Order: sequence, then C-alpha cells, then structure tokens
Amino acid sequence: MGLDIQSEIDVVKVASSKINQVDFENLAFGNVFTDHMLMCDFKDGKWERPTIKPYEPFLLDPSAKVFHYGQAIFEGMKAYKDDNDDIWLFRPDENLDRFNKSATRMAMPEVPEHIFIDGLKEILKIEKEWVKKGLGNTLYIRPFMIAIGTGVIAQPSTQYRFMIILSPAKSYYSGEVKVIIAEHYSRAANGGIGAAKAAGNYSAQFYPTKLANDQGFQQIIWTDDATHTTLEEAGTMNVFFRINDTLYTAPTSERILDGVTRKSLIDLAKREGINVAVQPVLVSEIVEAAKNGSLKEIFGAGTAAVVNPIVGFSYQDVYYELPKTENSIALELKEKLTNIQHKLAEDTFGWTVKV
Ligand code: COI
Repeated sequence: MGLDIQSEIDVVKVASSKINQVDFENLAFGNVFTDHMLMCDFKDGKWERPTIKPYEPFLLDPSAKVFHYGQAIFEGMKAYKDDNDDIWLFRPDENLDRFNKSATRMAMPEVPEHIFIDGLKEILKIEKEWVKKGLGNTLYIRPFMIAIGTGVIAQPSTQYRFMIILSPAKSYYSGEVKVIIAEHYSRAANGGIGAAKAAGNYSAQFYPTKLANDQGFQQIIWTDDATHTTLEEAGTMNVFFRINDTLYTAPTSERILDGVTRKSLIDLAKREGINVAVQPVLVSEIVEAAKNGSLKEIFGAGTAAVVNPIVGFSYQDVYYELPKTENSIALELKEKLTNIQHKLAEDTFGWTVKV
C-alpha cells in the first residue's frame, strides 16, 4: 500500500516479556500466546488506527452482538523462521482474500490490506523471538473479527473489532487420527456459511465431534447434507484420499472451505507428477476401495494440522483400518510443503513472503 506503516500503527510494548516462562518443546496447540496483540476497531463506517499492545483481556458490553448472534470470523496462518533468522509468511494474500469473503458473507466490513497484512508483519517483527527455527516449529497466527456493537436486535452490528493474536505451535494433533464418516449430522448446506471461516461453523461441529471423541475418534469427515453420500471435509482440515496412485479430493463449494494448504498440495502433487482428481468422492467408493485394498491413504490438510495422515475410518459402525504404507504420498507432500515454508527448498511457486 506504500504506507509508512510504523506511523500508521500505535505500538505499546510490554515492560518485560514472558517468553522465558514458555516451554517451547512441550506446547499444546493454541494455549500459549505471545506478549502482544493487534487490535483495530471499526466505527462510524471506517477502520480506526490499529494498535499493537500487550496481550490482555478486554471488556465488552454484555449485549455485544458477537455474544448473541455469533457474528465472528477468523483465519489460520503461520509464520516460519529460516536459518538466517528471517521470518516468512505462506500465501498471506490468500488468507486476506478468504477473510474478506467470510466478512462479506457475515455482513461484516472488509479489512484492508494495510491493517491485515502490514499490521501482521509489524507485530511479527515485534514478536520475532517467539518464532523458533527448525521444521515443526511455527508461530500460529489467528486473525479474527467480532461484532462489538451493542443491542440484542437481530441485525448486523455497526461496530467491529479486528484482532491478531499469535501462538507458538508444533503439531495440532498428537497421536493417531481416526475419523467417523458423518451419517446424520451436517457441517454445512448449500446457501449457508460453510465456505466462510465463520466461528459458528466450528462450534456447530463440537457436539457431533464430542460424540465421535467418546467413541475414540478424533474427527468427523463431513458428507453432503442432502444425501450423506459424498465426502466433503473434516472441519479442521480438507481431506485427500489416495486410491492406488491417484489423489482424490472434493472440489470446493458453498459447503467446503477453500483451504490454502489444500490448494497448495494440489499444485505440489501435480508438479511432482502425481495424478490429482478434484472431483466428488463417494462414500461408497472409499468403502469399496478399503475393502479391495486399493485405498492406500487418507490425509487431512490444513494450516494448523499441516498434512495429517488418517489411520482409519468408521462408517455404518464398521471400522476400516488403512494399510501401513511405505512411500506415503501424504508424508512426501508434507515434507515438500514444509521445506518450502521454512525456506529449506526453492519456492518455485512464489508462495513465501518475507516479513
Ligand atoms: C487452521 O487450520 O488454521 C484452522 O483454522 C482450523 C482450526 C480449527 C484450528
């Protein structure tokens, strides 16, 4: 945007950092936050000046619309540190674009690039010690926007708060991931908000996911709401299925999130000469492939989860365990992707952006 961003952001720094109290080797996902946060309010039809200030709770009126109508959206991104101590973002323009599409769908104002991207770079410069080197170490970035306008009338707010908080992260899932294929509950419907990264899309999954957790499964693979016959996404990740040597993944739609990791893996796989079929995947095809041994791998793909192998799935109360595979395409793609993200491999796609 050509702005002198430092003069466009107020910065109040903490008196002393809490970084030395953090055990970076034993991080549960999303529990520890850095010293600062970015905050920017929207009032009277315009965005105010953003502030980077100490991470702390804030007060909201009990009638703020976010509490009553869930007018809230978010993004998931990561920052990586290379061997020269430079910090990198991965396709941040994709996150900004999706954030603003989510905003439009939720009747919220778009956040301009100079607040979202330049503000993010500015807070990352302040928090650079929190980004640790080495594959597997990242700083998870959570930009979000909430409706802070007051009054319980069911109408969009006129006041909003955009924020960025940062959390050092290793893996999202610890241990094996087994899934249940949804037969009753749905994540999204045509015309709904499934393609938006709206807070309610995630809380709507908590109850059915809890039921799945109680049975020993970590996630649900959602199916289409009308017939429950086609496989869609896993809620915290998009999903890929490998039948023989072809990777299948559902096309994005009004019901499926347009994942940045998903689209990057498709491009990477194609570059590596792997067959990728972006087409509706039937539950019956996967069950049949599991039975006849042609289903080699299932994996989830998302910013937080990166590439996460799924070891088996349950459908109609039958559990199908996947074979142990040497030459895992999931692990090959994960390595290629994370090497690009950490600047250990050439970024021929131009995906990485220096902070
Ligand atoms: C991400 O992968 O960054 C997400 O936003 C998913 C979230 C549920 C952790």
